[in-house]
Amino acid sequence: MKSTPKNRKLQKTALGKIENDFNLSTSDLRGVMRDFRLEMERGLAGGKSSLKMIPTYVDSPTGRERGEFVALDLGGTNFRILEISLEGGGRSGKPRIMKFVLKKHHVTGAGSELFDFIAECMRKFLRKYGAAGRRLDLGFTFSFPVKQTAVDSGELVCWTKDFSARGVVGHDVVALLGEAFGRKGVDLVNISALVNDTVGTLVAKAYEDAYCDVGVILGTGTNACYRESLSRVKKWRGSFSKGAGMIINTEWGNFNRLKLNKYDRYLDKHSENRGFQILEKTVSGMYLGELARLAIADLAGAGSVFAVHGAGIFTEAAGAARLFKSEYMSEILEDRSRGLRITGRVLDALGARGSTESDRRVVRIVCEMVRRRAARISAAALAAVVLKMDGRLARRHTIAIDGSVFEKMPGFEADMRLALAELLGPRASRIR
Ligand code: GLC
Repeated sequence: MKSTPKNRKLQKTALGKIENDFNLSTSDLRGVMRDFRLEMERGLAGGKSSLKMIPTYVDSPTGRERGEFVALDLGGTNFRILEISLEGGGRSGKPRIMKFVLKKHHVTGAGSELFDFIAECMRKFLRKYGAAGRRLDLGFTFSFPVKQTAVDSGELVCWTKDFSARGVVGHDVVALLGEAFGRKGVDLVNISALVNDTVGTLVAKAYEDAYCDVGVILGTGTNACYRESLSRVKKWRGSFSKGAGMIINTEWGNFNRLKLNKYDRYLDKHSENRGFQILEKTVSGMYLGELARLAIADLAGAGSVFAVHGAGIFTEAAGAARLFKSEYMSEILEDRSRGLRITGRVLDALGARGSTESDRRVVRIVCEMVRRRAARISAAALAAVVLKMDGRLARRHTIAIDGSVFEKMPGFEADMRLALAELLGPRASRIR
C-alpha cells in the first residue's frame, strides 16, 4: 500500500478492528477466571464440564526417590526416549537421550503402526544404552487426554493436536504399548507409570523444589495440572487418608467459555476436532500462526497490506491454511533489524514478496495482538488454578512451565507476567 495519508488512515481503521477482535479487558479476564473456576468444580464433581479434571494417581515426589528409570515422551511428532538416574536429595544425573520423528502415517494410520514404531525405537535405545539382563522401570509420558484407572493404566478419551491413529481411542494405551513391545521383542521393560506431560513437568520440578504445585505446557498443545486435596475431588471413589493429595490433570485446552472472534470461529470450523479444544485453539503453537495468518489475509483482501506485490500465503485459499507456522511468528516478533528486514525475508519465503516497510510493521503488530491475547488467556487460567489451591495466595507457588510457545516466542512470558499482576495485584509476586 502506498503511504498516502488516506491509505494510512484506512490501514489504521482496519488494524483497529483486529485489535478489537483480539482484545480482552481486565474484566473479560476476570470473567474467564470465574468461569474457569466453575468448570473446575464441576469437573471435580464428575458433572458436565469442558474441564475433564482427571485424577492422575500421582502425588508430588518427596525429593528422596532414587533409582535408574527409562522414560518415553510422546506428545507430538517428535518423541524422545531417555534414561535418567535419580540420586535423592532432589538431585539427578545427566540423562541419556535419543530423539525420533514420527511420520504422517504413524500419526493418522492404524494405531498398531504407531505403537510398533515406538517399540522399534525402544529396541534401538536399549541396544545402545540398555544394560543386558537388567529389568528397567519405564515411565510413559503420553500427552493426550487419558482417563486413568491406575498409575499404570488409562484409556485414551480422544486425540488432540491433529493425531487420529485408529483403534486407540477407548483403549488402554499401556496395554497397546505392552503388546507392541511383545511383538518387537522388547522384554525386560516394565511400563510402571503412565503420565501426562504436564504431570511429568510438575513432578520433575517438584523433585528439587517443594513449592512447585502446578505444571503447565505452552507448546504445540496447552494444558495444566496441579496438586489438589483428595477431599475436594468429589468424584473420587477410592479411599484416602486425611490431608492426602493428588495431581489433577485439568486438560485446560478444552476449556470453552471464551469470547471468540471471527478468526477463531473460522479456524475451529476448519479443524479436525471442531467444537473441541477451544482454549488450545486460542493459545497453543499449533494454531497461533494460523490465527495471525487469517487476520493478515483479511487485511490483504481489503488492500490494507501487500497491495503492491502479492500476498503469498496470506489469502483465503484453502491450500494456504496452517502454512504460517508459529515459529515464523516468533522470528517476526524477534526482529530488531532496521526496516524489519528479517520480517521481510520471512515474508518473501512465504510468497509475500517485495513487502513494504509498512506491510511488515502491520504484520508484526498483528502477531503481537495474537500473542498478547494467548498470554492473557493463559495467565487467567493459571491464576484460577493457583487461587483454587490457595484463595488468598498465602503461600509461595512455583509453576513449572515447558513448551515452545513459552520458551521461544519473544514477549510471551512478559505478557503473561503483566496479566498475572493485573489480575492478582502485588500478591502475583508469590508466583514463581
Ligand atoms: C493437548 C493434550 C494434553 C497435553 C497438551 C500439551 O492439549 O490433550 O493432554 O497435555 O496437549 O501437550
